[in-house]
Amino acid sequence: MNNIGLDINKTKVLSKELNDLLATYQVFYTNLRGFHWNIKGRKFFELHLKFEELYNDLQIKIDEIAERILTLGGTPNHAFSNYLEQAKIKETGLVIDGDFAMNNIIESFQITIKIQRNLLDISGEANDEGTNALMSDYIREQEKLVWMFTSFMA
Ligand SMILES: [Fe+2]
Repeated sequence: MNNIGLDINKTKVLSKELNDLLATYQVFYTNLRGFHWNIKGRKFFELHLKFEELYNDLQIKIDEIAERILTLGGTPNHAFSNYLEQAKIKETGLVIDGDFAMNNIIESFQITIKIQRNLLDISGEANDEGTNALMSDYIREQEKLVWMFTSFMA
């Protein structure tokens, strides 16, 4: 058992999966910064602000995930070279088109939701209510964002 009464082998698996999620969020965050900066067109002000809101939220989640890994007894990765290897989201390069950015964001949330659902299974099995609750919150928030972003694009 570790310091918080969880099975050490199970928390190792959780830390590994959480590090993959952390990497995915870091690439997603950096993509969003690029969208915020480079977007052009009639919806500039609306999208520029929306992208800022999203990356600020991801920044909070990135810190929560890293500190959850530490709480479980693991070590969060912080090198971008690791992030690029582990992330389930790819770098986008330069994006100036709002529709492209919005579709990319919807796909990115679909990916994070999937990783988080997988983490829920593992944390449930490990009796890790802390990680479970965190993942549940993220999933609920991001499912709602997928609905709203999809409605925007309809
Ligand atoms: Fe800005």
